[in-house]
Amino acid sequence: MSVSIIRVIAFAVIGLAAVAAAGLWWRAPSGPAFEVASKPVRQSGQASIGGPFSLLDHTGRRVTQAMLAGHLTLIYFGYASCPDVCPMELQNIGAALDLIEKADPAGFADVQALFITIDPARDTVAALADYTSNFHPKLVSLTGSAGEIAAAARAYRIYFSKVEDKPGSQSYLMDHSNIIYLMGRKGEFLAHFSTGTGPEKMAAKLREFQ
Ligand code: NI
Repeated sequence: MSVSIIRVIAFAVIGLAAVAAAGLWWRAPSGPAFEVASKPVRQSGQASIGGPFSLLDHTGRRVTQAMLAGHLTLIYFGYASCPDVCPMELQNIGAALDLIEKADPAGFADVQALFITIDPARDTVAALADYTSNFHPKLVSLTGSAGEIAAAARAYRIYFSKVEDKPGSQSYLMDHSNIIYLMGRKGEFLAHFSTGTGPEKMAAKLREFQ
C-alpha cells in the first residue's frame, strides 16, 4: 500500500467519524419530542371511563346517563346467573351502602348503586326485578337490547364474553371484567375497586367525595 492510499483511507475514516459525530449532535434536540408524544396517552387514561347509555331499569323505566347527575354512583357490570363473584360483589356493595348510611344519613340520599347486566338475553326486566330484591333496596339493575348493553359496556371499558358449558349446550356462563366504578355527580370517573374490595374500603373511598 502506498503512502497516498493510506492517506486517502485515513481522511475517509476521519470524515466518516465527523459525519457520525454531527449526526449524534443533531439528534440530541429531538429528545423532548418523545415527551410531547407521550402526553395524550396519559390524558386519555381516566377520562375515557363512562359515557352515554340508554337502558331499562328493573321496573321497566327507560334511563340514561342523566341519572348519574347529582349523585355519587357505584356501578358494577355482571349477570344474575353468575354463580359466585357477582352475588359476592353485590353483597359488598350493599354492605358499603349500609356503612355510608350509618355514617351520614342525610348525605346518603345522593348515593346510588347500579348493576348493569352483560347477559341481556336471560336478564330481562322481570328477571332482574326478582334478582335485585335479594340485595340492598337502593340497588337498581339495568338491562337493554344486546346493542344497548354492548354500548354501555364499551363506554365503561367492560369486557364480556359468552362461555358455553358444552358445545351446543343451552347453559352458559359469562366471562366478564370484575370492577366496581365510583362515578361523580357530573357522571365523571372518580375511582374503581377491584374484586374482593371490602365494604369498609369502598365506603371510606366514597365518603371522601361526600
Ligand atoms: Ni360474575
